[in-house]
Amino acid sequence: MAADALQGVDLRWLAERIGTPFYVYDAEIVQARITAIVALTAAPGLQARYAMKACSAAPVLARMRAQQIWIDAVSGNEVLRARAAGYHLGATVPEVMLTTDVFRDNALDMVRDHGVLPNIGSPHMIQQLAAAGYRGPLGMRINPGFGHGHVQSCDTGGPSSKHGIWFDDALSVAHVATRDGMSVTLLHAHIGSGPEVAEFLTNMQHLVSFFAGPEVAEFITNMQHLVSFFAECLEAYPQVQAVNLGGGLPHPYRPGAPTVDLHAFGQLLRAAQERFSQQTGRPIRVEIEPGRYFVAPAAYVVTRITDVKRTQANAKGPGQTFAMVDAGFCDLIRPAMYGSFHQMSVWNAPGDAPLTPTVIAGPLCESGDVFTRDEAELLQPRLLPAVQIGDLVLLHDAGAYGYTMSSNYNSLGRAPQLWLENGTPYLISRRETFEDIVRTECFASL
Ligand SMILES: Cc1ncc(COP(=O)(O)O)c(C=O)c1O
Repeated sequence: MAADALQGVDLRWLAERIGTPFYVYDAEIVQARITAIVALTAAPGLQARYAMKACSAAPVLARMRAQQIWIDAVSGNEVLRARAAGYHLGATVPEVMLTTDVFRDNALDMVRDHGVLPNIGSPHMIQQLAAAGYRGPLGMRINPGFGHGHVQSCDTGGPSSKHGIWFDDALSVAHVATRDGMSVTLLHAHIGSGPEVAEFLTNMQHLVSFFAGPEVAEFITNMQHLVSFFAECLEAYPQVQAVNLGGGLPHPYRPGAPTVDLHAFGQLLRAAQERFSQQTGRPIRVEIEPGRYFVAPAAYVVTRITDVKRTQANAKGPGQTFAMVDAGFCDLIRPAMYGSFHQMSVWNAPGDAPLTPTVIAGPLCESGDVFTRDEAELLQPRLLPAVQIGDLVLLHDAGAYGYTMSSNYNSLGRAPQLWLENGTPYLISRRETFEDIVRTECFASL
């Protein structure tokens, strides 16, 4: 969302009305991204899912469903959110898939009682499913031995990744599943985007090679040893109906960052679908499941400057200008967690205002509660128009892994969410109160 996308909105009035900080989503941006993915997957045998962990807001799910985008859920409660949005639960048409490395809370119930397709990421989950009485189709998330996410620390594939079943073990896990009355109908790998756009396509090409075998080795040159191992991968799974290549479609968070070539990606997907189907002699559905791409640009965190203070240079380092804001990493954790970059702007600042290096820091009692950091977790002041107490600052591209990763750390309530549609703002979740925060507390003897 460009900063001026909110220009027609009386943000100051909204801020007075519901207080700061808050999230504001633009329905049009979500819709534009959905339209792009629908076009990308329009060919026969392709299916898009939405990795709803990125943003599980009800209006987002409603739009996904309206456009026949299926769901990748990661918990029982996400499955229930999808059902509340109107998705059908069941494995015949697996509109909702449950991808997890660990069954927790009500996750197993969703599989056993509602027939949600489980996509397991750990071998012992077979025994857990069997013990729960489940007999049915199964997805298997494989760690193909390579890949990583949008930053190096987001480790989605390879020996140091916790995700999935190591590729060498996959077949024996599938045999155990068959013995226990389950059949592997879907193979899955999510290795993420890589930090660069080019890396996303390369990762995807590696994945296609992984599943298809050496015939598609033209896609890659540097993974021959993996390709020969995977030559028999699909053929070894006679029940497989679908290959899911995961998410990771990158969003350009930095101004001027390249955007992914959806045309090239679409070609890759169609080629993969044909190749997999030819090779197995049956139609293989190829799925993708982006999360961030759908929603990242669709939201801002709106926060207010509460103070501007300065430190002076000494032997320890240079002095800084700190603009204190009322949003913290409890509202948007990505900069603190990954050193992720979010563009920032000062609401209604004149276009020609002189820029000053500014550190934007939040209210939490944590020195790391700073939005302007680099990947090494060091301060990285941002060039911003000089700010004053009361100014509103926008943290851009907060739609993915923003609100869903927020917490009530420091007993601050979660911020409200606003949904802007056709110029009208709707409150879609209110600010958490003290009562909300302590609602589950008890002192019960067991
Ligand atoms: C299994 C799986 N699928 C899809 C995604 C979505 O990734 P992204 O939001 O980068 O597209 C993730 C993200 O963690 C994931 O773990």
